[in-house]
Amino acid sequence: MTKLILGIETSCDETAAAVLEQENGRIQILSNIVASSALLQSKYGGIIPEQAAREQLKSIIPVITEAFEQAGKKPRDLDAIAVTYGPGLIGSLLVGVETAKVLAKVWGKPLIPVNHLIGHFYANWIEFSKSRQPSFPCIGLLVSGGHSDLVLFKNHGEFEYLGGTRDDAAGECFDKCARILGLPYPGGPAISGLAKKGDSKKFNLPRPMWDSNDYDFSFSGLKTAVSNLAFTHQATNKNQADLCASIQQAIIDSLIKKTIIAAKSKRIEQIIAAGGVAANRELIKQLREQFNGKVLAPAPNLCTDNAAMIAAAAFFIKDPINSLKLQANPNLALAY
Ligand code: KG4
Ligand code: ZN
Repeated sequence: MTKLILGIETSCDETAAAVLEQENGRIQILSNIVASSALLQSKYGGIIPEQAAREQLKSIIPVITEAFEQAGKKPRDLDAIAVTYGPGLIGSLLVGVETAKVLAKVWGKPLIPVNHLIGHFYANWIEFSKSRQPSFPCIGLLVSGGHSDLVLFKNHGEFEYLGGTRDDAAGECFDKCARILGLPYPGGPAISGLAKKGDSKKFNLPRPMWDSNDYDFSFSGLKTAVSNLAFTHQATNKNQADLCASIQQAIIDSLIKKTIIAAKSKRIEQIIAAGGVAANRELIKQLREQFNGKVLAPAPNLCTDNAAMIAAAAFFIKDPINSLKLQANPNLALAY
């Protein structure tokens, strides 16, 4: 049986809509439109929430219209509408949630609320036949601008939280280090781009919580160390690529160490990575080299915020809700 879902994602500075089709277990993207205000935000070195929300309002209808046009589908073809209802910036979330509620009501379609963090993991289910999709149990590593978490997935809708960052998220660390070094926002792509030309052994940066007996991370000390190097003029234009390579390696080392410990101690043979930082191919390459099992990661454009992952997650969520009752929740935790 074929199912068609429209996904809507507006949790931060991306306005995204996608139409996905599920046929014989395979989930395919018919359209995946992302309008980002990141370039606008980059002028200010980070996101201004009110401005992000204003941009969401401008883009939401054109983006949804384009998603239908590219997919060659009409609203009447849909089986459901899926929307991110949290966590994220409240002004941005409200644009997607309220739009989805109205469309669900007007078009008479079920509305499926999706947790943004869970949605990130489901990018791993897209475009693969059933046999190549993740299998349970698996370890989930979520690394984004706001989160760095390790979970043990037992099934759809069922996971155990293992650990996460005690302070800054991995993506936040990339972004803050980039800002200290005068590099553009978002910092992850900027640092990883320069890191390709640098030597990661040139700077000895901290890997906090290395020997802690848990699955937690800490990245704020790394940011402070980079800030000290900049303040004491040890970081210069000449050694910027080396410093970027060293920052990237410190983050990669911490993430890989705890992820592999989690997999080994839970006797798990598969890891699924997700979130914007998983777009870092060096992280995925090193994780594959060091883990004696399977490592799945979405294509880079499906790691960063998009609506395809929200629609993909919705294929596995059974219960639509009364569309008028849905509320955006900026503080939604990592839970179903
Ligand atoms: O998942 P995402 O698009 O948004 C959130 O839900 O937070 O993640 C954004 C984060 C930013 O911090 C950005 O710097 C980081 O992902 N990022 C990367 C790369 N591409 C994006 N970090 C490292 N390497 C990359 N190639
Ligand atoms: Zn995200």
